[in-house]
Amino acid sequence: MMKMINFMKGSVMKIHSLSRASRCLTTEGVVCGFSSASGPRVCIVGGGPAGFYTAQQLLKARQDAVVDIYERLPVPFGLVRFGVAPDHPEVKNVINTFTQTAQHERCSFHGNVNVGKDVTIEELRHAYHAVVLSYGAEGNRSMEIPGEDFSGVFSAKDFVGWYNGLPTNKELCPDLSSETAVILGQGNVALDVARILLSPLDMLKETDITQNSLAALAGSNVKRVLIVGRRGPLQIACTIKELREMVNLPNTRADMLTSDFEGIAEALKDLPRPRKRLTELMMKAVKEGRDDKVEKCWGFRFFRSPVEILTGADGKRATGIRLALNKLEGSGDGARAVPTGQIEDVECGLIISSIGYKSIPIDPTVPFDPRKAIVPNDMGRVLDTAGLYCSGWVKRGPTGVIATTMNDSFDTARVLIQDMEAGKLDLSVNKLGTQAITALLQTRGVRTVLFSQWEKINAEEEKRGKSLGKPREKLLDIDEMLRIAWS
Ligand SMILES: Cc1cc2nc3c(=O)[nH]c(=O)nc-3n(C[C@H](O)[C@H](O)[C@H](O)COP(=O)(O)OP(=O)(O)OC[C@H]3O[C@@H](n4cnc5c(N)ncnc54)[C@H](O)[C@@H]3O)c2cc1C
Ligand SMILES: NC(=O)c1ccc[n+]([C@@H]2O[C@H](COP(=O)([O-])OP(=O)(O)OC[C@H]3O[C@@H](n4cnc5c(N)ncnc54)[C@H](OP(=O)(O)O)[C@@H]3O)[C@@H](O)[C@H]2O)c1
Repeated sequence: MMKMINFMKGSVMKIHSLSRASRCLTTEGVVCGFSSASGPRVCIVGGGPAGFYTAQQLLKARQDAVVDIYERLPVPFGLVRFGVAPDHPEVKNVINTFTQTAQHERCSFHGNVNVGKDVTIEELRHAYHAVVLSYGAEGNRSMEIPGEDFSGVFSAKDFVGWYNGLPTNKELCPDLSSETAVILGQGNVALDVARILLSPLDMLKETDITQNSLAALAGSNVKRVLIVGRRGPLQIACTIKELREMVNLPNTRADMLTSDFEGIAEALKDLPRPRKRLTELMMKAVKEGRDDKVEKCWGFRFFRSPVEILTGADGKRATGIRLALNKLEGSGDGARAVPTGQIEDVECGLIISSIGYKSIPIDPTVPFDPRKAIVPNDMGRVLDTAGLYCSGWVKRGPTGVIATTMNDSFDTARVLIQDMEAGKLDLSVNKLGTQAITALLQTRGVRTVLFSQWEKINAEEEKRGKSLGKPREKLLDIDEMLRIAWS
């Protein structure tokens, strides 16, 4: 149902049959609309789960909607590619659904477009009836302690990006020569990082972890990973599946402090079921964890906040971390960590801060709440900006699994459709959508990567992976990605 036609200086463009009747192509390749019969054109910024799920719902709910996704990188799927741990391949099956959406006749994917830089939100709003911001949370929360910039200190965002092949992190080269690593934060990202640091290489080498990080892990000296939380066991942020993976990690024992668990057994009976099960598993690990024959170990350390990164005589390399000991005020999820005045120093050469990601503003015309680090919105409608919507982590903050992101993206799509149907968006004006934007990008020397071109990158990665016995070997270099995409 979709024709490919040559369009403007050799680039290729999709023209959708559903709106063919309402459009004509001039000899210059400019599309002129002459009736309001063509359907709504919606643009999505960001090709991660939120972008794809929003597109999926829009395409399903409106048979005349055309949806274009603009993605900064030449490759799609956001954190499913660059966040989800390599040893969790089953989670990445959502890529199949996203691929179906990208290949839908009324959807198109345009990678290699940095929105806010290559094209402004104003320009997108001019070219589309509605724009949905789904650009995730690409920043990371800083610990705001002295020494955070010393070598040996990394954000989990960068460390995860490194082992998952994010081009910006390919040169990270973390020094893994220290025996002890400390991870700050006790969410699922912290556990992903701990697991990757301690997993037997045989478990990792058949995953899509990059070869350079596999080589670095092969030479790693890390034998002990401490996962530090500012509050107590009843406030831990990870979930049971990820904790179970730590408990069951081969050749690794748990090393906890029994003093961190005082009074926990008595609290068990009043806990909601998921937290009760999680706590019981932790307590089992405390009891059974001490098989001293095993060389590697991991452990939670509770009631401790980072205060300062310690360094040796060179004043540049981390040699340890100073932690403030806390007590809790209040109880349950809302309990607050309050310093007791005591401190504790832990010797370590690798420190990874995993205290959360953070959205960043991408365009000065878009409202942004710096305190919550989200685009302020009412059920996905960006405040005070008609025609602008948001979904995913940029809408609600950097928490929630893919299923949570799916539900909130479906909600945003539903709200957008409601607004169309209530006449809040002027659909009588014909919008040129991707034709206008592609032409604009061309004048700026920006060439996009279409989904079919990403499939060439995908095929190359799978080919390289096959020879290594892995599902894929990710390309790390953007220029190489582009060369293959446009070959
Ligand atoms: C390390 C990690 C591991 C995780 N593991 C799991 C897991 O195992 N299971 C699970 O269910 N959930 C997991 N999650 C959560 C899940 O990844 C998120 O719920 C989900 O990815 C959020 O989707 P999003 O689309 O909002 O953001 P993202 O996935 O970050 O997608 C945003 C996209 O926008 C693009 N973008 C950014 N800026 C621009 C711009 N200026 N112009 C154009 N495009 C732009 C980005 O390149 C990216 O592709 C994990 C999260 C992290 C951080
Ligand atoms: N396998 C999976 O399903 C998977 C894997 C990875 C990620 N994810 C999801 O992705 C989302 C993000 O994960 P995440 O681990 O980045 O975030 P998270 O779950 O929000 O955990 C953040 C951790 O950092 C701590 N923290 C925050 N600010 C701090 C500070 N200033 N000082 C010290 N500690 C601080 C938090 O402690 P407090 O509780 O005290 O604030 C918490 O322990 C989560 O929803 C997670 O479930 C899922």
